[in-house]
Order: sequence, then C-alpha cells, then structure tokens
Amino acid sequence: MAVNNNERRRVLITSALPYANGDIHLGHLLEAVQTDIFARYNRLRGRDVLYVCADDTHGTPIELSALRQGITPEELIGKARESHVKDYSGYDISFDIYYTTNSDENRHYAELIYENLRKNGLVIEKEINQYYCEHDKRFLPDRFITGTCPKCKAPKQYGDVCEVCGATYEPVDVIDPACGICGNTPQMRSSTHIYVQLAKREDFLREFINRPGVLQSDMRNFVKTWIDEGLKEWCISRDGPYFGFKIPGTENKFFYVWMDAPIGYLSSTERYCKDHGGSAMDYWKKGAPAEVVHFIGKDIVYFHALFWPVMLDNSDFAVPSSLRIHGFLNIQGEKMSKSRRTFILARDYLEKVEHPQAAEFLRFYYGSKLSPNSADLDLNKDELITRVNTTLVNNIGNLHHRSMVFCERYFDNQVPAAKWDDAIASQIESAAEEIAGWYESGDNKLVVEKIHALGSIGNKYFQDSKPWESIKAGDKDAAAIVIVTCVNLIKALIVYLKPMTPGISAGFERQLSLQMGWDDYRFSLSGHRINAVEKLVIPLDDSHLNALFTPAAQS
Ligand code: 2FM
Ligand code: ZN
Repeated sequence: MAVNNNERRRVLITSALPYANGDIHLGHLLEAVQTDIFARYNRLRGRDVLYVCADDTHGTPIELSALRQGITPEELIGKARESHVKDYSGYDISFDIYYTTNSDENRHYAELIYENLRKNGLVIEKEINQYYCEHDKRFLPDRFITGTCPKCKAPKQYGDVCEVCGATYEPVDVIDPACGICGNTPQMRSSTHIYVQLAKREDFLREFINRPGVLQSDMRNFVKTWIDEGLKEWCISRDGPYFGFKIPGTENKFFYVWMDAPIGYLSSTERYCKDHGGSAMDYWKKGAPAEVVHFIGKDIVYFHALFWPVMLDNSDFAVPSSLRIHGFLNIQGEKMSKSRRTFILARDYLEKVEHPQAAEFLRFYYGSKLSPNSADLDLNKDELITRVNTTLVNNIGNLHHRSMVFCERYFDNQVPAAKWDDAIASQIESAAEEIAGWYESGDNKLVVEKIHALGSIGNKYFQDSKPWESIKAGDKDAAAIVIVTCVNLIKALIVYLKPMTPGISAGFERQLSLQMGWDDYRFSLSGHRINAVEKLVIPLDDSHLNALFTPAAQS
C-alpha cells in the first residue's frame, strides 16, 4: 500500500452500493455500521478520510420495475436514492458522498475502463444462444425465466437455481421454460456478446490476492481456489432494452450492471472532488498515496477480488488495499426472509423500537459482534437487550452517572481538582494502543470487550474506595481522587466508543462542553466544569422491542 508519510494518511473507504430497486434493511446496515465505525475511527485519528457510497442503479429488474410502476427508471432511482439516504442517516452513517451509478462521471469511467480493456487485448466477442421473449421483445436474464427444476422437478423455479433442492443449472436445462414477465414460452435466439478474458491476468491476480492486508485469511484460500479452477471469461454486455450505459461502438448493447457498479466507487469519488476540491486521482491513480478499503458481503467477493482489480489495474488505477468481507445477517437464528417475516427494514426498526437510542443500540450491538471474518451474525432480541444493558447502561452509564452526581453535589459542578490514580491512568494508556489496533483490523468485538473490562475496573474502584464514606467523614480530598479518576476513565471510554456510538459520546461531550479527538483519552479533566447531569444511556427492555420482534406486527 502506498502511503505518503509527509502528509496525513489518506483513506478511501466504501460500503457496497445498494441496489436502487430495494429498501435498506438491517443486513445493509450491518455493513454500513461496520464501515462507518472504521471511517469514524480513522477520522478520529486525524486521517484524511473519504467515505464513499452510492446507489447501484442499472439492470433489468430496475427497468422492469419502473415499467410496472408506470414511471421512468430515472424517476425510480431518484426516489430510491432519497429514501436510502434518509434510512442511513437515521443510523448516523457518515458518508462523505452518497451518489448514483447513473451519472456522467460513471459513464465516463465505464467507457474509459472498457476502452483500455479492448486496447490491451482483454476483450473478445462471442456469439451465444439465449432465451428471447417475442411478446416482451427482449432477451431474458436467468432470473426472468421460470420453469421446472431439471433435478428435483419442483415447479416455478428460476432459470439458474432451484430454491427447493439448491441445484444450479443453465436456463436451457429448465423444463417448460416460461418468460418471467408474461408467462409465454421463450424462443432461443443468438446474439453477440462481449467478454473480458480474466485468465490473461491470472499472474497479476495471484500476486494481488497475496498482498498483505488485501484479503482476510478465511477468504484468501477461497479466492485462490477460484483462480486454480480456471478463470472464466466474463460477459460484460447485455442486449437492449436495458437500463444502463450503451457500449460505444455497438448498436443495442449495454454494459452489464456489474461492470459499472464498482466503477461507482471511482466516479463517486470524482463527484466528491468536483464539489469539494482535490482530484479523484489523489486516491485512484496507481501509486497514489492513499489506501482504498472496500467493505463487502461474502456474496460479492468474486466481483471485488477478481473482476474489479483487473478493471482497475488495466487502466493504471490503484487496486484495493483491503477487502473487508463480512457474513450475512440472520434474525433470531433464521435467514432474513420476507416470507418468514424475518426481513426487517431500516425504517421499520426505527419506527417500531420505541426508544430514543434505538439506532445507537443497533450500532453498538453490531459492533460488539463484529470480527474480521466472514462468519454470519445473528440479531437476537434477548442478546440485544443484555448487551446494551450490561455494558452501556449498568457498566458505563452507571459509572458515569454516579461520578457526575458527585461532581454536581459535592464539588460545585466541577470535576474535582485533584491528581488521579496512576494505576488506572496507565491501564487507560495501554488500552488505547490495543483498542486502536482492533479498530484498524476490524476487531470491534474485542474493542467492546476491552471497554467493558475497563468500565468494570472503574466501578469496582468506585465501590471499593467508597467516596460517599469519605464525604461523610469530611475527607473530601480522598473522595476527590476517586471522582476525578472515574470521570477521566469514563472520558477515555467515551473516546474509545466514539466510532461505534457517536450519539452517546456526543451526549457526554455536551455535558462537559468538549469536542474530543482520539488523543483526548489521555488528559485529566481535573477542575473541569460540567453541565447539568443527565443519564447517558436509557435502559432497554422487552417492551421496547416487542413490536419489532412479534411476528404479527412485522407485516
Ligand atoms: O450486491 C449488491 O447489492 C450490489 N448492488 C453491490 C454492488 S457493490 C459495487 F460493486 F458496486
Ligand atoms: Zn414475456
């Protein structure tokens, strides 16, 4: 990774671009929260961070969905983007830009990258047979063919996979194929398509996936196996009608949505730089002094670890420094599924959980479970309540409140002016480095465990030191040491928590009229004035979550 030591470390961070034809759900948020924690952590360290995302707007489903609704695809994606931006903002996701792939910038880079693929001999054309619907006047993507599974004979299955037996196959193998739009029997037709010969860049890809930090160890072998099995030619064209960018030099062919989707990372950066100064090439030129970190789900690794680096490298753009790959989100032990009513939309969670800190709690809960691997993660109601109450309410919230009440009552609304406990100060100091390392590597779970352990140390120290007895005995100085120590400890924990629970941290900062950066875990608040004491965290209980998790209420 090329990092300019003379300047601030420059980090470009992305979440995968959500499709414009669906709502944001808690699975999208798992990724957005994970990315946001990383982005906020890097900003807190004073780095030059750009967190980029956009809607992924092209393809047949979007075109057809607009057709069905009687609106243009542009109208559809406009509305989607508005609602996506709103949903994410409800969870404090701090994008620097949330753009769209249907932009001039994206068209420009798609054409450029394609031109360079051609120029360097990576593109070939092939004639293939595909189902075509005479009625709808279009070639049918696999998902728009239905029929009987050739293996288990289950009716009404997609053209590429059977949801009953799990078999995958080619659309031509489907028994009694029907057009997924009108139900008529489709015809075979031939058409010329454009392919990228990935195998020609096999050496580069082998070297790329072995670069330190590019892939988590649980994923590297997986990707290596794909290369070992032989890199297939990748079809990047689709016949019109198609909502997307027309391929230059063709009559009626468009770039496949997965060709221009990742280019959205690059073109959104360009848009940001046009609006705010700088150049996209400060991040994306090969050798630029920047890191590019993509957060993605394990279902789209092939695109990001193989196609995308080839597209970039071949155009002399920087390839990703790191792919942070997460697993899927389950709800109460079950796959998220509309039919099982375990599909929770971002806005439904916020509407149904009647708690002012609902979003913050989900962020914390996800954080407390996220490790740098692609294991699936379960959202469980009881565990959500337990984790929030155990760490945020009863541990940190409690230590905060009892210490601040002392400042208010016995120290004239000030943190006592006293020297704080050396042993606790040094524990805070050594924790900072560990926590920083875990935030870097995405080991958010360990961050939370450490913060919890430090909070417990603080509460035990408070309990054992009995400052209320010192006050009663007239030894205010003894109480002062305990209170300044506990307030300083809480402050450090609030700094450490800032990337994960920015709202709770902001509450604390308001109470002390402070704005803290990472290094502020360290100084002493001795003698600092405090504003009115309020609880930082309000307990969470069953009653707040019942409306969300009661199946009847999830319709
Ligand atoms: O899987 C998806 O939801 C895609 N829309 C992700 C695209 S990520 C990037 F490549 F644009
Ligand atoms: Zn049809």
